Amino acid sequence: MIRAGDQLQIDVRLTPGELRAALREDVRTGLCASPKWLPAKWHYDEAGSLLFDQITQLPEYYPTRREREILAARVDEIAQLSQADTLIELGSGTSEKTRLLLSALAAAGRLRRFVPFDVSEAILRDSATAILAEYPGIRVCGIVGDFERHLDALPRDGRRLVAFLGGTIGNLRPRARAQLLAALARSLDSGDQLLLGADLVKPRERLEAAYDDPGGFSARFSLNLLTVLNRELGADFDSAQFRHDAVWDAEHEWMEIGLVSLREQRVTLRELDMAVEFGQGEKLHTEISAKFRREALTAELAAVELAPVRFWTDEAGEYSLSLWSRPQ
Ligand code: SAH
Ligand code: AVI
Repeated sequence: MIRAGDQLQIDVRLTPGELRAALREDVRTGLCASPKWLPAKWHYDEAGSLLFDQITQLPEYYPTRREREILAARVDEIAQLSQADTLIELGSGTSEKTRLLLSALAAAGRLRRFVPFDVSEAILRDSATAILAEYPGIRVCGIVGDFERHLDALPRDGRRLVAFLGGTIGNLRPRARAQLLAALARSLDSGDQLLLGADLVKPRERLEAAYDDPGGFSARFSLNLLTVLNRELGADFDSAQFRHDAVWDAEHEWMEIGLVSLREQRVTLRELDMAVEFGQGEKLHTEISAKFRREALTAELAAVELAPVRFWTDEAGEYSLSLWSRPQ
């Protein structure tokens, strides 16, 4: 635990060594599987977090703007409904939109603590420090961890609002998503609420443009994963030999994102003492981005005993923000 005065605390549940061990295990498992795949969380080293931030500003990438639109319209209502004194944010990143919530909770006079939670230590430290300067009256208790493994690190006291924004819930495969929602529901006490940002199903063209922009930011975000593997595992991926691929999977209703090998090639990962063959056209699955329908989302939350409090969309009906509670 690192402290800067009493106002800023960072609880590191994932040290750089543990992070490396988890990466090694995921890469060993994922690159030996058929089809080959890697969990999306490994995109977010410093460069990946920066690239994601650039994606959020692209005209084609609508989710961030849509979510901000809903937040701007609804934060006072959310503050009123939640009565929270503690705002927890999972996958907090830069917490850029979260300032709207922080300001509304602070204006309502109850906010005393903000708990950003992210796997990326660099971005967490930067945003925790910036928020402390902007909201000097509150404590900022950051957690560096994996929300699929370290929810036990969340504070249990106070009246809590857990925000999971940006549509990051959609980056989990269905089983992992159900497990995370169940763990989250278990960690809520009566009176606590979950604020969930979830992107909605929409026409293929709109989706594919958002995940494969002409400026190539989405492609750089995907390819950065290979840079992470080269740096952390002594791999020799040549990113010029892979192309970013993002297609709408209408059956599963998710964007299927990955890197396609442009030729037959063999990649070595020195630190894993491992070599991997890629066929020409073979896809390494790096991320899904699931899109939701209100009824199915409500059923998934009902399955973990979370009840709807409110369900909002933006004006265009492209994106949803919803509030859920644990019944008394
Ligand atoms: N919430 C922000 C950022 C979304 S990007 C927004 O709405 O814009 C997704 C964020 O989740 C990244 O900062 C990434 O580091 C974090 N993340 C992804 N998987 C994670 C995991 N398993 N545990 C904790 N953080 C994770
Ligand atoms: C963080 N997450 C919700 C983004 C998304 O839209 O699924 C990640 C992303 N991947 C490519 N572009 C954006």
